[in-house]
Amino acid sequence: MQIEPGVSLKPYNTFGLPAVAGQLVRIRSEADARAVVDHPELGLAPKFVLGGGSNVILTRDMPELVLKVEIPGMRLVAETDRAVIVEFGAGERWHDAVAWTLDQGWPGLENMALIPGTVGAAPVQNIGAYGLELQDRFESLDTVDLVTGRTVTLNAAQCKFAYRDSIFKRALAGKSLITRVRLRLPKRWQPVLGYLDLERKMEETGKHQPDARTIFDWVCSIRRAKLPDPAQIGNVGSFFKNPVVTPEQCRDIIARDPHVVHYPLEDGRFKLAAGWLIDACGWKGKTVGHAGVYDKQALVLVNRGGAIGSEVQTLARAIQESVYGRFGIRLEMEPVMV
Ligand code: EPU
Repeated sequence: MQIEPGVSLKPYNTFGLPAVAGQLVRIRSEADARAVVDHPELGLAPKFVLGGGSNVILTRDMPELVLKVEIPGMRLVAETDRAVIVEFGAGERWHDAVAWTLDQGWPGLENMALIPGTVGAAPVQNIGAYGLELQDRFESLDTVDLVTGRTVTLNAAQCKFAYRDSIFKRALAGKSLITRVRLRLPKRWQPVLGYLDLERKMEETGKHQPDARTIFDWVCSIRRAKLPDPAQIGNVGSFFKNPVVTPEQCRDIIARDPHVVHYPLEDGRFKLAAGWLIDACGWKGKTVGHAGVYDKQALVLVNRGGAIGSEVQTLARAIQESVYGRFGIRLEMEPVMV
């Protein structure tokens, strides 16, 4: 185990924000994680677990010990008549994992192509896109408890998945490090095509029974057209969650603006498109300091070049205030602000 002092985290967060880790240790195996916990000094130090840095806004240097998860591995661990179970090291890039499963002939993750970040970070916010969430394909995961050093395996119920949320953002935040994630891919594959953008692709191409590879390609092209590539423009994907409101609140908002984009949920409530609300407040394309609102999707904040975390924070608050002022809705942030 190597302790690296004074490491710039700018290349390790997709918004490209400047911050320095006082100490950083790369975790390449479960044994590395246990070694940190057992270490006489590091064991007691406050810790911050960093995956692909695609869901974090760094507003300060990090006095905590930063654990950068780089555990590799992609393998088949079990196969039944009904499903294959695949396992990934937490440090693998999520998109590479999706592509690998398709290459092996195991569809099921194609709707979640091109989501930035690592496999280990995927359960933290229960990533999702185009009608599918991680929890729909989840089997189990292993963590190392950062206090005891013990390996603990959690199933889906124990992870407490919800919309862009899990136990790792709450009770276990900073207390455990995800080392391996197992996913279940059903053999009787059913395409998930209910999302408007995918329906449009079916109409455009005339392909009404696309295979998984075609859906993968469609999702990649939809995302490339709408969302900025973090390698070129710093961003963390959606910056706010889509708010969920009661039918009464929804009626109230429709009365304020009949065009508001809303989707009924199974429990009778409605999900509103946060991007639409922000757009309606005139934010699309706006810039504050060196941070701005992406011109093709108001839900995404971007680094216009040289942004610092506090500018992103100021912009995010200004957006929250104006959406609250106009619609009475409090937008909740999706990334973790540190
Ligand atoms: N809209 C606007 N103006 C905008 C942005 C959106 O009017 O500036 C409208 C769109 O026209 C559309 C609606 O709002 O009618 C919803 O927009 P979109 O279909 O682009 O999806 P989203 O709700 O903005 C969510 C996820 C994305 C995911 C897509 C596809 C959240 C917070 N975001 O976005 O996830 O890729 O659906 O499933 O749930 C992420 O979490 O980082 C992320 C990118």
